[in-house]
Amino acid sequence: MLLEISDLHIEFASEDRTIRAVEGVSLSLDRGQVLGLVGESGCGKSASCMSIPRLLPSPPARIPQGKILFDGVDLLTTPIENLRKIRGDKIGIIFQDPMTALSPLHRIGKQLQEVIRLHRNVTLAESRKLALEWLDRVGIPDPTSKINAYPHELSGGMQQRVVIAMALILEPDLIIADEPTTALDVTIQAQVLRLMRDLHRKDSALLLITHDMGVVSQMATHIAVMYAGQIVETAEAEEFFRSPQHPYSQALLRALPSSATRGQPLESIPGNVPSAGNFPPGCRFHNRCNAVMDKCKKCAPQLQEISPDHCVRCLLYDK
Ligand SMILES: Nc1ncnc2c1ncn2[C@@H]1O[C@H](COP(=O)(O)OP(=O)(O)O)[C@@H](O)[C@H]1O
Ligand SMILES: [Mg+2]
Repeated sequence: MLLEISDLHIEFASEDRTIRAVEGVSLSLDRGQVLGLVGESGCGKSASCMSIPRLLPSPPARIPQGKILFDGVDLLTTPIENLRKIRGDKIGIIFQDPMTALSPLHRIGKQLQEVIRLHRNVTLAESRKLALEWLDRVGIPDPTSKINAYPHELSGGMQQRVVIAMALILEPDLIIADEPTTALDVTIQAQVLRLMRDLHRKDSALLLITHDMGVVSQMATHIAVMYAGQIVETAEAEEFFRSPQHPYSQALLRALPSSATRGQPLESIPGNVPSAGNFPPGCRFHNRCNAVMDKCKKCAPQLQEISPDHCVRCLLYDK
């Protein structure tokens, strides 16, 4: 397994209290796979994923428990110098807002070349050649002139293409993409997704974070659904879409436009997402669940394997 996260807990400490944002997340991801991590905003997707390259600001973030094994190395305990080598080289990151990754002050070519030269022993000319090649691969028209552009001279979609080039240019083993298309116009979203799908190498793994079931349905080989700081369902994508088991997953899928429901209003999940620190007792989803039972208000379900590679956290499956 390339990436194995086990029993990860993340807390955010403020002056007067500590919020447990992520509790007991376990995920695994291998080369060739695309893991779609789905869930509504605030459930802990970004915190979980940004803890992999240790990019959570600490303080306030703290990881009291858990293990993150990447290619056999525990990223939570490895020395920071080792981690700097791994970031960019072995793990590429694509953020939601391209301007998180790009500096407004430098030409995009210079920024790409810096990434290359930080990790590879190449000449300026060689790094320029590679930067041009990747600008072309991510679909930037006329790379020889665009390589001298500043980020603000490009559209949001073009900026995100540059960020994708920057994340992929060293051919990392793991790519973490946190809502990579959310900030883009709807028409551009589809193009950028297609680009990511085309560029995904068989020997690399993609962790794709999104609140959009439509996006994962087009890309993912495996699905993990998060709710209120926990994983509530994991399965292979095909199995998940054929037979989702958690009432929350089912509700998310009903909210997805399909040819059968086209033209009808989308179903949205009633109630509000509970915020970290205010999770309800028992099953955290019970107050929004259409299959709620009395015991759900008191007992917290465990994640259980209900068939090979299909796990669900729901009292409907409590043995
Ligand atoms: N820097 C931070 N400081 C304090 N709390 C945070 C911080 N980042 C995230 N959180 C808390 O963690 C929860 C999960 O956030 P996040 O992982 O960003 O959710 P998602 O990516 O699923 O929308 C948030 O509801 C918030 O309470
Ligand atoms: Mg997020």
